[in-house]
Amino acid sequence: MERSFLVAAIAIAMLLGAPHGARAQDVIKVGLVHSMTGGLAAVGKQALAGVRLYMEQHGDVVAGKRIEIIVRDDATVADMGKRLAQELIVNDKVNILGVGITPTAMAIAPLATEAKIPEVVMVSGTSAVTERSPYIVRTSFTLGQQSLAIADWAAKNGSKRTVIVQSDWAPGAEATAVFTDAYKRGGGEILDTIKVPLANPDFAPFLQRAKDANPDTLFVFVPAGQAATFAKQFVERGFDKSGIRLIGPGDITDDNDLPGMSDAMIGVVTAGLYSASHDSQMNKAYVEAIKKANNGLRANFISLGGYDGMHLIYAALKKTGGKTDGDVLMAAMKGRAWESPRGPISIDPETRDIIQNIYIRKVEKIGGELYNTEIATLEGVRDPSKAAKK
Ligand code: PHB
Repeated sequence: MERSFLVAAIAIAMLLGAPHGARAQDVIKVGLVHSMTGGLAAVGKQALAGVRLYMEQHGDVVAGKRIEIIVRDDATVADMGKRLAQELIVNDKVNILGVGITPTAMAIAPLATEAKIPEVVMVSGTSAVTERSPYIVRTSFTLGQQSLAIADWAAKNGSKRTVIVQSDWAPGAEATAVFTDAYKRGGGEILDTIKVPLANPDFAPFLQRAKDANPDTLFVFVPAGQAATFAKQFVERGFDKSGIRLIGPGDITDDNDLPGMSDAMIGVVTAGLYSASHDSQMNKAYVEAIKKANNGLRANFISLGGYDGMHLIYAALKKTGGKTDGDVLMAAMKGRAWESPRGPISIDPETRDIIQNIYIRKVEKIGGELYNTEIATLEGVRDPSKAAKK
């Protein structure tokens, strides 16, 4: 009698303990290398908020295996990201990598190729990133997708003479290249292209130079997290009263930064992949959940790369029945399509890049807060830089 009780007790204890005592082959490790400190810490915070929310909503067991995430901070430094990814691959034996900003995503690419493990790019917006390894797949966006859309909009809405202000790194160069090409095709003229350092930017001197060129439009790309600083200096320099129209990819009116901006930003038109005010049930629930789990944080376009990155990983693992072979996982990821809080998205089976709607949005005040209101939708937009190479 006593013995059978003991056996039952041990069996129950083993069952309860199962998730932690799971055998190595029952755990799938996802190594996440993001910028949690340094210049782009705001970006890492949003990406991780998306990752964590997805797991909270969908649990941590897929195809009978437990998903374990291991988070590492690259401190906004590519070399650090590379070293951390190397450790994740060699020591922690991760099955999948989920990475953030462009420099880190590029630095890790050769490691993903060598180890033959998927590198899910959750933040980077530089077109060329997906070409650095056949094991890279992107759930974020490209600057080209947005810059092309806003160039066409500007050209059709009377803009003739533009000065470009770009953050001086790869995604900035891409925003400039795609915008310049499309804007000129639309009959516009680029008066000047001004590059601002990525780290600790002071926009004031660059804004003065932009004003001196006497443009009718200012096209600006700064990364998420720098938009509020930019907006402040834009107003201090009197741009809001100058009649010069501010446009750009969605980063310049980042939902994360909008609540801290002044009403001078009302009316600014941008092209972006996501707006916190996107009108769908799924998005309303998403915005509420991110807010609740992160001390009032407003979901932005960066968070979606993390959220959808985890969706892609879960969906691929379901399809492979939990098999983690890199080539098998990549095949399962290609061509996947699903509904995201941003709208319908899919993975281009040829380029492994994301196909998504791009929205033309205008800053408006809703219920006392600034939001990007969608005024037009371009459906199923591919990365234009890759399309142009074909
Ligand atoms: C990037 O890493 O490519 C990146 C990061 C933040 C942005 C845009 C692009 O807002």
